[in-house]
Amino acid sequence: MIDYELMLSRHSVRSYLDKPIEEEKIAVLGKMVEEVNAESGLHIMLFTNEPKCFDVSEPGYGIFKNCKNYFAMIGPNGADEAIGYYGEKLVLAAQELGLNTCWAAMSYKKGGVDIKPAKGEKLHIVIALGYGETQGHERKTKSISDVSNADDSSPEWFINGVKAALTAPTAINQQRFYLRREGSKVKAKAGFFVYTKMDLGIVKYHFEIGAGRENFEWAD
Ligand SMILES: Cc1cc2nc3c(=O)[nH]c(=O)nc-3n(C[C@H](O)[C@H](O)[C@H](O)COP(=O)(O)O)c2cc1C
Repeated sequence: MIDYELMLSRHSVRSYLDKPIEEEKIAVLGKMVEEVNAESGLHIMLFTNEPKCFDVSEPGYGIFKNCKNYFAMIGPNGADEAIGYYGEKLVLAAQELGLNTCWAAMSYKKGGVDIKPAKGEKLHIVIALGYGETQGHERKTKSISDVSNADDSSPEWFINGVKAALTAPTAINQQRFYLRREGSKVKAKAGFFVYTKMDLGIVKYHFEIGAGRENFEWAD
């Protein structure tokens, strides 16, 4: 079950064990990729046992070790928010299966990913996958009032949603988003910097799980 505890236990993991992912788990994730692609119009691909992507001598930031499995997040130009939303769905499903992950925008080799995106599409980012050497570690986080208009009079579902949003991975841990509630509507806004729209999709997925989709609607 994907709940707050599971979201809280997820940390980015960059060093992996030499332990292959079991066929059954690959099958579960592969099926999920198919479903997500059908729902979203994205063309995500799951690569296993394929070390070229993370075979980087001088990564941009974050050193990855022994990563041989990953999701290649392919989709239309400008689909950043959907890439974030559906990618995080895969990340939390992997976490539930006992696997570890890390989003990687800079720390991989684009040429090491064997794909040919269709016209108007591109490889937005990859998500490393596998059995981590560790479960990662806690990191600094902003507070509820930094990222939302929640206060003592806010309904519990909103507070729970914001708490879940604060467990979401964001590029360079920037957490540049804001969640504003008016009644049962919530407006999610991305700040200005790199990858903030993708971050917003990730954050919205977490918020929905924390708040409960039945309790609110996204405002445009
Ligand atoms: C869109 C995006 C891009 C990221 N790119 C990289 C990357 O290139 N290299 C890296 O080491 N980590 C990358 N990360 C991982 C973040 O640094 C990490 O999520 C953040 O520090 C928060 O830590 P946590 O995931 O453990 O909560 C990326 C995360 C996101 C969401």
